[in-house]
This record gives sequence, structure tokens and C-alpha cells, in this order.
Amino acid sequence: MTTTTREPLATTLDYAGLSREELTERIHQRKRELNAVILGHNYQRVEIQEVSDFLGDSLGLSQEAAATDADVIVFCGVHFMAETAKVLSPEKTVLMPDPRAGCPMADFVTREALQKLKDKHPGAAVVAYVNSTAAVKAEAEICCTSSNAVQVVESIPEDRTILFVPDRNLAHYVQDRTGRENIVAWEGYCYVHDDMVLEELERAKEKHPNAKVVVHPEARQDLLERADEVTSTSGMVRLAQEHDELIFGTERGLVDQLRNRFPGKTFIPLSGAAVCGNMKLNTLAKLAWSLDHMEHEVELDESVRVKAEASLRRMLELSGGWKAPTEEERKLEEAGVRPSGCGCS
Ligand code: 13P
Ligand code: SF4
Repeated sequence: MTTTTREPLATTLDYAGLSREELTERIHQRKRELNAVILGHNYQRVEIQEVSDFLGDSLGLSQEAAATDADVIVFCGVHFMAETAKVLSPEKTVLMPDPRAGCPMADFVTREALQKLKDKHPGAAVVAYVNSTAAVKAEAEICCTSSNAVQVVESIPEDRTILFVPDRNLAHYVQDRTGRENIVAWEGYCYVHDDMVLEELERAKEKHPNAKVVVHPEARQDLLERADEVTSTSGMVRLAQEHDELIFGTERGLVDQLRNRFPGKTFIPLSGAAVCGNMKLNTLAKLAWSLDHMEHEVELDESVRVKAEASLRRMLELSGGWKAPTEEERKLEEAGVRPSGCGCS
């Protein structure tokens, strides 16, 4: 089959005038030309999910970013996710379709503020939820995601104080699960999950008494206590495969996606208002524009990147997504025989 090379159009508005089929075709063609991979978070719009090569939660996406052999990564998610991809794959070009897609939770803590807290707790271990900037990760000992936060905290000796940033709800959840008393929680939160209230859960339960309730750990403690399962977005996708009736305490885009995938099942959003406007800034038109123009590229200060990589790799090593190179592999890396950081041992 012969494909005609299409000229890039000038603005995202020009792309917005194209049909979904035209955009999808352009995206696929350009992806092949660039040897690009599209990584999409579970909260992305359905049409973006459909063109994504890999769809997942923060952990799965970071594992994929660390392992891919593509030259270009287009990240359809929010800024910290694209930044994480760049930290783990510095030799690759990492693009975001809309650079304004930030995560307000990540902005709750700055590197300077964290340094002040560290000064108050000498010897404490800093655990940075991956929803944080690279500069904050650089100040942490280890990162975690919603799917491995308990495991990460359990890997730290019990007698050490833990400074957990920036999500207070995830910190309280981990505290509850591990029984650790010495966790100092930063007062950040996700506006999408923190806004969900118990009354909504009870109402949904009344209407659907047989449905199991699954809630994201970024939600408030009273909701987590009432949930049958607490898990990450990909954990929710797995539960959707196993159950016919579920109430979801998370961003509703995920629920819409699962309803599409499993039309015969009953999936209820705990709150119809739980929408992450930041995730939804990415559109198919902006994605096509991004690939055609090789914009917007994520760049990082190398000294920050190297430190952030260390705390991310500690997490990946614990989660089975990456193995530190053996002494022999490290020698091969130094000799330029084996690509550094490939984790492919
Ligand atoms: P997951 O890692 O569970 O996908 O969560 C990321 C996120 O930003 C949820 O709000
Ligand atoms: Fe950030 Fe919340 Fe949006 Fe997740 S849902 S990206 S935590 S604002």
C-alpha cells in the first residue's frame, strides 16, 4: 500500500478542522516516519486511547517509557508523566500535545519547601508520589505510584521517619495499610478525587446494592474505608474485566472508557463531576499537530534528571519493572557495548 506524505498544517485549529479518520491516519503515518510511540494514560479521551500504543496507569507508563526502543515518545497524560518519561529515557525526544496539561497536585510541593521539611527531619526518608515535579523527585529517596505506595513504604526500615509528598490522602491510606506511625504527610491533594464525598458513594450504593465499590487511593479516607477495593487506574481496568457491576470512585473518563469496552456491564461513576480538565486538554488534533511539528518537547536540567532518575529507578526495581545492571553489564555500558539504563538484563 502506498501512502502519500501529507504536509504539516500550520495551527492546531487547522487540525481541529479534520475528521477523526483523517487525524487518525495522519497520526499513524507520522508515527511510523518518526519511529514514535504514543503513551496514553487511562484518563485520556477515548479517541486518544484508541490511537495509543500503550495505555496504563502511572507505573505501567513509566515502565514502558523506560523500556521502549522508539526514538520519540508522545505522552498523552499530564506534565509529570511526560517528565518521568524524559527522566527515564533522556536520549529520546519526549513530546506533549499540550504543555499546559499539568497536574495541580504536583504543584502543591516545591523543591525549596521540601528542603525545609527535610531540614526539620534530618535522617528521614522522602517518598515522592510520582505526581510531583522532577525537581521534587530529585530530593526524594524513592518514588511511588498509586499501585506500589504500600510496597515502597514497607521497603523502608520501620524506625525511619517518612516524609510523604505531596498527596495527604495517599499518605493516610499507606499509613493505614502499613500501620506506620512515623509518616509525615504533605498537605497536597487531587481536586478530582478529594471532591468526591461519602454521600455520593452511599447514594450510588443504595441504587446498586450488589455493585462492588472501587476507589482510587487519592480519595478521602472515609471513602476508602467504605470501598471494597482500593486500587490504581489500571487495577480498576482489571477489576472491570472480572466484575459485572461496579461503582468507580475515580475520574469519570475511565468509567466512560470501560462502559465502551464492556457494553453489557453496569459501571457507575461515584461522581459525575469527577473530571480531570488537565488530562482532557489533550485532543486528537493537538496530538496530530504535535507529531507533525515535533512539539512540545520536554526538556530537563541534567543534574536534576540524574537525581530524579535514581529515585524513580529505586521504585522500578522494587516493582519488578527494571533491574539494576550487574557489574558485568555496567562494564559493557562503560565500553559502549550495551545501552545504559536499558534494564534489559
Ligand atoms: P494512576 O497511577 O492510578 O493511573 O493515577 C494517576 C493519577 O494521576 C490519578 O489521579
Ligand atoms: Fe492530577 Fe488529579 Fe488530574 Fe490525576 S486526576 S492528573 S492527580 S489533577
